[in-house]
Amino acid sequence: MEDKLKIPRHIAFIMDGNGRWAKKRGLPRKFGHKEGAKVLRMIVEECKNAGVEYCSFYAFSTENWKRSQDEIDSIFDLIKKFADEELDKYADAGYKVKCMGDISVLPEETRNSLIKIVEKSKNNNKMIVNLGINYGGRAEIVNAVNYILSQGLNKIDEQMLSDCMYTCNMPDPDVIVRTSGEKRLSNFMLWQSAYSELIFIDDLWPDLKKETLYKIFEEYSKRNRRFGKE
Ligand code: IPE
Ligand code: IPE
Ligand code: MG
Repeated sequence: MEDKLKIPRHIAFIMDGNGRWAKKRGLPRKFGHKEGAKVLRMIVEECKNAGVEYCSFYAFSTENWKRSQDEIDSIFDLIKKFADEELDKYADAGYKVKCMGDISVLPEETRNSLIKIVEKSKNNNKMIVNLGINYGGRAEIVNAVNYILSQGLNKIDEQMLSDCMYTCNMPDPDVIVRTSGEKRLSNFMLWQSAYSELIFIDDLWPDLKKETLYKIFEEYSKRNRRFGKE
């Protein structure tokens, strides 16, 4: 008998390959991000339908400031558009939006739209949509340690550090998926990925389909998670 499909409780996506998707078509990179934003919406919906409880997405890293201003602007415009357009839809669908990363330095309109959707959706409980924006795993750990030091403590433990991460109250990702064939984490969820299953797929993010998501679930179902046990 075929094994039952296991649906991860928390799935995290490193949405990579937007630029290459656009380049293949002779388009500016921002068109890849635009297409990528559509796929993000689709994946949110399909993850919810499948019964995922937490869905994390890497949308902008602390290193992505190295890109051209034009590309950076286009990404923040898309994030604002996403937050504005999903505001009512997410309230109805029951999604709760969370942000991880330092959004205080984002353009004001983008930041305000994000704050609005986070606030409006805070009591929802259908699925958590956790957006990594100006997020870096190392910065997150350093911030957590600095916070603990500011409380006058001089000794920390793992639980304390976990509680000071953006992901406090969230389980660690069961699986981290990266698209576009790159096999690295690029500073994503460094603390939380200790026991995550890693799945690398060759499709560029804008080419991701519902069927690919189910292939990911199939692959995840085959993994034997031991957590150090025999
Ligand atoms: C990922 O796609 C999206 C962001 C980093 C914002 P890329 O823009 O990195 O696309 P590639 O890797 O250049 O193809
Ligand atoms: C990681 O992708 C960041 C996001 C997906 C937001 P990058 O394209 O920035 O990573 P590198 O530079 O290839 O490692
Ligand atoms: Mg990339």
